[in-house]
Amino acid sequence: MTELTLHINGEEHEVDVDPAKPLSAVIRDDIGLKGTKQGCSTGVCGACTVHIDGEAQKSCMQMVGGVIDDEIQTIEGLAEGEDLHPVQEGFVEEFGLQCGFCTPGFIMSATSLLEENSDPSEEEIKQAIHGNTCRCTGYTKIIDSIEYAADALNENESSETTSPSD
Ligand code: FES
Ligand code: FES
Repeated sequence: MTELTLHINGEEHEVDVDPAKPLSAVIRDDIGLKGTKQGCSTGVCGACTVHIDGEAQKSCMQMVGGVIDDEIQTIEGLAEGEDLHPVQEGFVEEFGLQCGFCTPGFIMSATSLLEENSDPSEEEIKQAIHGNTCRCTGYTKIIDSIEYAADALNENESSETTSPSD
């Protein structure tokens, strides 16, 4: 066991763990952030997706000892107080989830996409979520949810850049 400091959602967390332990397991078991899910634990399903230095990555495939210098963001770090992130809102408004197990992973993949490309095509959305698996929804509503978020982000941006009319 080794004492490590992790940077998650803007806070420091001290953990005493095997540095080879998967990041997903540390996030859930040692830090207690249960929004990140573990499905396959083999890099296939995407349920464990988090941001590592802003990039969507499968946390079950990362040894925790390898990310001590990185900024990690989990699904719990997206909302600002009571205000959901537009991608979270999109999943609510467009019914992008059923059981919800896959949802945090999809949302982390989608937020990473929209940070780089705020107006993605349907093909670009499909590419961004190709590493995430959903057994319930059939994907159409997930794509609708991400398109909703892109529209909301672009509306916010254009209202911020419009000068007040008074
Ligand atoms: S739990 Fe990480 S990809 Fe499935
Ligand atoms: S909503 Fe159930 S696995 Fe996606």
